[in-house]
Amino acid sequence: MTNGKLLRVTRAVYPGSFDPPTNGHLDVIERAARCFGELVVAIVVNPQKRAPMFSLEEREKMLTASVAGLDNVRVEHFRGLLADYVRAAQADVIVKGLRVISDFESEMSAALMNRSLSDADTLFLMSDQRYSFVSSSLVKEVFFLGGDVAAFVPEPVLRVMAEKRTHLQRR
Ligand code: PNS
Repeated sequence: MTNGKLLRVTRAVYPGSFDPPTNGHLDVIERAARCFGELVVAIVVNPQKRAPMFSLEEREKMLTASVAGLDNVRVEHFRGLLADYVRAAQADVIVKGLRVISDFESEMSAALMNRSLSDADTLFLMSDQRYSFVSSSLVKEVFFLGGDVAAFVPEPVLRVMAEKRTHLQRR
């Protein structure tokens, strides 16, 4: 795709587990939406790492509500290889956020692997420094131990998290 040819990026895919989406994710989405004609936020259905705490429906609901004001952003989901999804979606690039140096190591090999598999380049946006320490796993831990995470997640996410906590407490 990029072999000496001018690449006009129109459709980009921002993939992730989004378990749950954070303000760091939303910041990357807003900034990427300004760079590309169309941004597809793609939720991986079964992340390799571990079973998600939030169902696909919950993650879709949280993301869709969080990006409601952004005209060129849509939320989808995928199973299996990201490279296959990117090809099927006819996207030009993959977008990822980088928070800290340690993110770089795993992201570099993922970017090279995805480029070998699909020819799609990965473009990285540096996370805003306000969110460099914010991760979905930390947000979950703090929230379910009773901490206040309102500064770290979009309002619609906080609502779904509160519903989830109530639901879990009733069991
Ligand atoms: O938000 P995350 O958990 O860091 O996102 C990771 C994600 C979804 C980008 C990654 O797990 C992924 O691409 N999964 C799909 C399976 C795949 O293609 N694996 C090979 C990646 S090189």
